[in-house]
Amino acid sequence: MNISLSNSSLNSWEGEILIIGIFEGKSPNLNFLEKETGTNLSNALNNQKFTGKTGEVKYFNFFHHKYEKLIFIGLGDPKKSSINSLKRNISSAVKLTKKSTGKIGIYVPWENYDQDQAIEAIGESARLSLYKDNRFKSCLEEGDENNSKSIQIICCSETSKVCINKIEAVCSGIEMARELVASPPNYLTPNEYANIAKQLAKENNLKLKVLDKKDCQNLGMGAYLAVAQGSDLDAKFIHLTYKPSESANRRVVLVGKGLTFDSGGYNLKVGASQIEMMKFDMGGSAAVMGAAKAIGQLRPENVEVHFIIAACENMINGSAVHPGDIVTASNGKTIEINNTDAEGRLTLADALVYASKLEPDAVIDLATLTGACVIALGDDIAGLWTNNDLLAEELTTAAISVDEGLWRMPLHDPYKDGIKSMFADMKNTGPRGGGAITAALFLKEFIGDSIPWAHIDIAGTVWSDKDKNSTPSGATGYGVKTLVKWVCNDSLQQAQS
Ligand code: BES
Ligand code: MN
Ligand code: ZN
Repeated sequence: MNISLSNSSLNSWEGEILIIGIFEGKSPNLNFLEKETGTNLSNALNNQKFTGKTGEVKYFNFFHHKYEKLIFIGLGDPKKSSINSLKRNISSAVKLTKKSTGKIGIYVPWENYDQDQAIEAIGESARLSLYKDNRFKSCLEEGDENNSKSIQIICCSETSKVCINKIEAVCSGIEMARELVASPPNYLTPNEYANIAKQLAKENNLKLKVLDKKDCQNLGMGAYLAVAQGSDLDAKFIHLTYKPSESANRRVVLVGKGLTFDSGGYNLKVGASQIEMMKFDMGGSAAVMGAAKAIGQLRPENVEVHFIIAACENMINGSAVHPGDIVTASNGKTIEINNTDAEGRLTLADALVYASKLEPDAVIDLATLTGACVIALGDDIAGLWTNNDLLAEELTTAAISVDEGLWRMPLHDPYKDGIKSMFADMKNTGPRGGGAITAALFLKEFIGDSIPWAHIDIAGTVWSDKDKNSTPSGATGYGVKTLVKWVCNDSLQQAQS
């Protein structure tokens, strides 16, 4: 999809489909459009009770006229104009253009917005709403091809060019995350994951280190390797690094759960446990990869970012973990694996130990960790656990600003009793109640209290069965925007000031 800026006036813009935003209570001058189409649009809009309330959409199709389609969207009260509601409104408008290949123009009354913010919102929303994952289709329907669409944001100054780069950086990161999540497990294997990371590093000027099974053994990653041992495919531990051109004053690590498939192991996923969906069990790492792609393009100053994925699959063969096995993680702690389906936390344990050895200022992990989190918060809201109030505040603010649901949950210490083991330092699974909390408490054992750390459980938000605003159904790419916002926030502000 090609998104560009047009500094021609609304009247002189050339193209087939025009999307026009109208604030509530403002009657815009539609004279030139009425002449062009021979239609009394003001009357038609009135008749259809269009008042400009946010969420209203009306469209008109024309034959043998300059325009193929005119779409009017309500932007609501101009005094309350919000960027997130603008995104939603643009999304519902562009979805009406899915089947068309004509050039699309989008115009909103700029004076009520911070122009750059609005351009980014419009571009992002339009691109993400129309994006289609065609990788596994052998034939396409009209309008399905992503590069067949051209969108122009009308009437903005050339000085906003930098917005186009930001749109490209963030959207390409989100699209990458969505594609990774939607990739079937016979395609996205741990080895293929490492290949994709290699390509990503090359294209976005990142450093890459891939540890294979031997390297991980040498580091004593007994928890991670235990999960991988029941698969015919070897584990790949992926470590990407972004370094700014000048030395950074902040170093952060993003860790993502990277189970390319989770069968449950000998505690096999049966019944309604959605085994066929468990290709999405690498959604945490997909968000981390997507963030790496975006950050590699945005190149924020002052911050060094590490991206870590302990990739493997949880399968069953003669070498697979027996329920009851005891393993030792790379910090020396022993774990009784009382449930092989609580595998994500085992892989994250060694990944978090590795992350803390980098002595960072903060570590954030994202994981499709527990069904319990889905029960607690549903599929709009991810759970946040952190040992640091400031980090909680920063992440919550970042998530709100990009319209991703995130809610802080308690690291309730007494629940640690639930993962006490008779034989080892801990078990990997506690009681059913509070299952997302014990999972977070388990992770905390591998990072400690001295490093600000946050854990985000995205088991619910990674996938959606229905369209939600500018996110079509399927893999959502959840987390990329919040991570990018959180990483880039102060450094971008500094760069601008
Ligand atoms: N990948 C699953 C969590 C999951 C379940 C994500 C459903 C999305 C939808 C994870 O590895 C898992 O199986 N967790 C178990 C933990 C339990 C055995 C303590 C779960 O939530 O059932
Ligand atoms: Mn599992
Ligand atoms: Zn899992």
